[in-house]
Amino acid sequence: MASFLSRLSLRASLSRCRVPYGGASRASSRIWFSSDVKESSDPETKDEESTLKIDRSGLSQLQDHAPKISGRESMSAMSKHLDAIIRFRGGPIPVAEYMEEVLTNPTAGFYMNRDVFGAGGDFVTSPDISQMFGELIGVWSTCLWHQMGRPKEVALVELGPGRGTLMADLIRGTSKFQDFTSAISIHLVECSPTLRKIQEATLECVSCDDCPEKKRSTLSGSLVSWYMDLLEVPRGVPTIIIAHEFFDALPVHQFQKTPRGWCEKLIDVGESPSEPFRYVLSPRPTPASKLYLGKRLQWASEEEKACLEHVEVCPESFRYAGSISRRVSEDGGAALIIDYGDDKIITDSLQAIRKHKFTSVLDDPGSADLSAHVDFGAIRHAATEAAADGVTVYGPITQSKFLGMLGINFRLEALLNNASEEQAEALQLGYWRLVGEGPAPWVEGEEDESTQTGMGTQYKALAIVNSSLGVPIGFQ
Ligand SMILES: C[S@@+](CC[C@H](N)C(=O)[O-])C[C@H]1O[C@@H](n2cnc3c(N)ncnc32)[C@H](O)[C@@H]1O
Repeated sequence: MASFLSRLSLRASLSRCRVPYGGASRASSRIWFSSDVKESSDPETKDEESTLKIDRSGLSQLQDHAPKISGRESMSAMSKHLDAIIRFRGGPIPVAEYMEEVLTNPTAGFYMNRDVFGAGGDFVTSPDISQMFGELIGVWSTCLWHQMGRPKEVALVELGPGRGTLMADLIRGTSKFQDFTSAISIHLVECSPTLRKIQEATLECVSCDDCPEKKRSTLSGSLVSWYMDLLEVPRGVPTIIIAHEFFDALPVHQFQKTPRGWCEKLIDVGESPSEPFRYVLSPRPTPASKLYLGKRLQWASEEEKACLEHVEVCPESFRYAGSISRRVSEDGGAALIIDYGDDKIITDSLQAIRKHKFTSVLDDPGSADLSAHVDFGAIRHAATEAAADGVTVYGPITQSKFLGMLGINFRLEALLNNASEEQAEALQLGYWRLVGEGPAPWVEGEEDESTQTGMGTQYKALAIVNSSLGVPIGFQ
């Protein structure tokens, strides 16, 4: 590992992970490599999985269908759009529909038009906190590829790559293993055109003469392609799927137990311009209560169900887990999911973050990130249900344990050997943020505390692995 220290570069990073921190920029070290490539596999024929998705392409001109309602002129385009949807429907909409519009509406969705990451954005994630994060996921991927029998072609898929930092660190960190880097083709599932452009720049992509619809990353020579959904990624080759902080952005329904049964929390227009939106409860169970909550409760024990008053359910996470599981079972390979959440039913976790501070979910929609804790138990059940004989699910285990098993201590030590004082401080802080719990022990004062809180136990890792492969590294 020490030989990786060929070049150190400074990169500013703000500590955090979908929790609001108002900290100062930190310097961190990054190592730069290059390596060879191998062409990707042929595109597969269409997946059999069917999905219920709303075609929102016709809604891209938000203002066109927004009714003129007095007192609402000062609303943002997103607020007018949501207001119009609710009025057009003649009633409130599920929290999941609100969340999906707010995050991924093609015109004004939170992720769609700007870089929301880092000090100048709204939050910071682990890949930006430390290069060690992406590098160790590179170690995991390379070891898995060995377990897979070193296939000549492997699809490396990332769901929701953000700025592309994790993937860039992964391919730089693995560039010494040329058999691996020449086997991979990179497939990025990303809905935001703005983030796709940033990913292209981070991976230092150039045009590909013989495949105009793809790009080639000059970091590894690998072909890079973008998709809206995992279902579009070509099938038929062994696959390694990485999903870091992707599942927490998928829309959730919220339910509440009442004497009338499990009712659904919905979002309605507010009663005055100062309160454009408000929560209401459905008068009776909704179709989603029966379908999605019913499914989640089937997987829960009587003991777990007995004390529930509120439940959050993410049907899109069931769909993705099923889709990952079938792919891994049929094509070979594995998926690694890292996110914040728990191995049990989530009750009420939806949160909004704007400019590194918590805010109300209903306040100025589209200007703040929305995310919810990940229900790893549901992912495990959905994955197993989709391909019980073909996959084995490992974890969730804490991020701290996972990165520890992958050798983060050794990697830190190696990097520190060649680091300047400033880089060493950033590396140690990054290390704490990735594997520590609570405020860093050396922190004094409130502001520092919030910028240096460890994510080691709040974040968890789960692997969905083709059953023929055995236990993946990190989960032994
Ligand atoms: C919280 S960010 C995480 C980014 C990155 N993985 C990281 O850790 O820095 C969520 C990412 O998923 C993408 N995303 C969110 N919902 C999506 C969806 N339904 N389909 C495809 N991409 C989505 C966002 O645009 C963004 O790139």
